[in-house]
Amino acid sequence: MTGTLITGASAGLGRALALHLAEAGEALILVARRGEALAALAGEIRDRSEAAGVNAPEVHLIPLDLTRSDAIPLLEAGLERHQISPDQIHTLICNAGVGHLGPFTRQSPESVEAAMALNVVSLTRLVHWLAPVMADIPVGSAASPGRRSICLIASVAAFTPGPLMAVYYATKSYVLSLGESLREELRPQGVTVTVACPGPFQSEFHRAAGIAGGGGSVAALPTAAATAARILKGMHRGSAVITPGVTVALWALVGPRLPRWLARKLMHWIQKYRS
Ligand SMILES: NC(=O)c1ccc[n+]([C@@H]2O[C@H](COP(=O)([O-])OP(=O)(O)OC[C@H]3O[C@@H](n4cnc5c(N)ncnc54)[C@H](OP(=O)(O)O)[C@@H]3O)[C@@H](O)[C@H]2O)c1
Repeated sequence: MTGTLITGASAGLGRALALHLAEAGEALILVARRGEALAALAGEIRDRSEAAGVNAPEVHLIPLDLTRSDAIPLLEAGLERHQISPDQIHTLICNAGVGHLGPFTRQSPESVEAAMALNVVSLTRLVHWLAPVMADIPVGSAASPGRRSICLIASVAAFTPGPLMAVYYATKSYVLSLGESLREELRPQGVTVTVACPGPFQSEFHRAAGIAGGGGSVAALPTAAATAARILKGMHRGSAVITPGVTVALWALVGPRLPRWLARKLMHWIQKYRS
């Protein structure tokens, strides 16, 4: 088997990406901390396949806290338990991410640490572990007959600073910069790197981030399923940067071109309103 590894697959966008890919028959390796939520998702994939009268794709679950310093060896051990070698992963989707709204000086050390550890450190470690493996597989080989891809989930937050959510915005700028650089480095080795920069969509993120209206106003946002569909379309096309939706695409053009002082003030005002 060859398949796709998705981090943060127990909820929100990761879950939606897994459902879309499973529908297309893709074998999956799903990683997140909550093993029960991953098991429920695997059950849903089986049920949907059965209802559609098709064979369910292979789904392998690896419950894991990616911020652990030994996350990579644990992930390797998890793959070994499922008898999967890293070179059977043709697509890596680094989706797991957290953020917290609020003044920097009032953030707990744990909240600042969690965003940096997950959004930056664990994502970088994961790519640094798997990219060389992907780059070593000859294109067209039995292990990887098609494209090898890495998709990093950043955010529309990557395009500007974000007062009152400063660490989250900074981590997402990092993800965009890392992904664009790696795209150029890895292209000659047959690995396509894509960075997705979605705007807000429905998920558990808002409540966890302490964003006001974690329930009500979130219901008006695009669904995680719709966002996932747009991201997968862009990823399969081999896009460099995906900005799902007209508003996000416009902001990706305008945001970085604003005078820095205006971007700072505008984003501060928007975040004050959100909190
Ligand atoms: N929602 C939005 O409006 C929005 C907008 C732009 C970008 N994004 C980005 O999209 C990505 C997905 O966000 P989402 O909205 O789908 O969030 P979500 O619903 O809160 O899901 C986050 C996922 O990350 C996993 N996760 C959290 N901490 C983890 C850890 N230490 N180790 C392993 N897995 C961990 C969670 O699973 P467990 O709790 O089971 O570990 C969950 O599966 C994030 O990178 C986020 O920054 C979100």
